[in-house]
Amino acid sequence: MKAAVYTRYGPPDVLQIMDVEKPVPRDNEVLIKVCAASLNPLDWHFMRGTPYAVRIIAGLRKPKFSGLGVDVAGQVEALGAKVSQFKLGDEVFGSCKGAFAEYVCASESAVVMKPATVTFEQAAAVPVAAYTALQGLRDKGHLRPGQKVLVNGAAGGVGTFAVQIAKSFGADVTGVCSTRNLSMVRSIGADRVIDYTLEDFTKSASRYDLFFDGVGNHSLSASRRVLNPKGIYIGAGGTTDNWTIGPLLRAVSSLVLSLFGDQKLLMLLAKPSKEDLAWMREHMESGEITPVIDRRYNLNEVPEAIRYLEIGHARGKVIITLEKN
Ligand SMILES: NC(=O)c1ccc[n+]([C@@H]2O[C@H](COP(=O)([O-])OP(=O)(O)OC[C@H]3O[C@@H](n4cnc5c(N)ncnc54)[C@H](OP(=O)(O)O)[C@@H]3O)[C@@H](O)[C@H]2O)c1
Repeated sequence: MKAAVYTRYGPPDVLQIMDVEKPVPRDNEVLIKVCAASLNPLDWHFMRGTPYAVRIIAGLRKPKFSGLGVDVAGQVEALGAKVSQFKLGDEVFGSCKGAFAEYVCASESAVVMKPATVTFEQAAAVPVAAYTALQGLRDKGHLRPGQKVLVNGAAGGVGTFAVQIAKSFGADVTGVCSTRNLSMVRSIGADRVIDYTLEDFTKSASRYDLFFDGVGNHSLSASRRVLNPKGIYIGAGGTTDNWTIGPLLRAVSSLVLSLFGDQKLLMLLAKPSKEDLAWMREHMESGEITPVIDRRYNLNEVPEAIRYLEIGHARGKVIITLEKN
């Protein structure tokens, strides 16, 4: 089978699309014939091995695992001996290791059934970006109906889910993006949009109960200014340096600042969750949430797709399409 593989850290040129052995599922795994996969910034962090902290997981001097990509949707082609929740031919989506390939194995606890009304591309768009938005808003932010939410980075992979998830909780949502994305962010439900090329929201008089930050381009003290007295800041994304010192300082500062007053500044590290995939499945089936897809690439174009994502201006999710969409 064909897969995107790499044996050293570096720019997208380190990726090669080549023939590798088809994986065999372990007892608790399903073999998925991949129909679509989606890209996340974590893919290029793993590809480049930066910030260096990712090498603790990915391999210190070179990648331990040659595949890339975690978000997948496809059809179950083989079952491990102990798999009980799926049968051959089931259409599933979820998380795996090495999604940019024709076949991949995934634990049965990391995938759920794909709704018939959702395409493979839409389903593949979901896992990491949706975990991040849902766990940030619901678990860290304790979002309640009627609350005012600010989403910075509203046009990105995570942001387009954050806007829709916040709306599904009955929140009043303001999205921050650039001029070219204003109408898209409005179209997915934002009640208000702020064009960051024209306005610095940290200097406005508007205040929010929850600030979901997928960009991290403002200082914590400026970010805190936009919160109501008991408001919550959730830092999901941010600029990274190679040594992770910037983000670490931000995490420590958020802890210290949270000690003063009733506002909370929290940093998020999203985790894979089958329950959250099921939550997303229900909300996609009901039509409340529809993944936003920007560009589609084929498997041979994975390096080009990553180059595009790395620029930092994707409009929703970037997809690798194999077939059956
Ligand atoms: N904490 C976690 O567990 C976790 C999990 C997943 C992702 N993340 C992080 O979350 C961040 C977002 O991820 P993603 O998948 O959404 O990335 P992405 O799709 O690459 O984000 C691109 C988006 O960022 C927007 N953007 C860029 N500069 C902006 C600015 N100054 N103000 C407002 N929006 C701006 C762009 O909108 P315009 O084109 O309109 O500028 C674009 O739509 C990344 O840093 C990622 O590493 C964290």
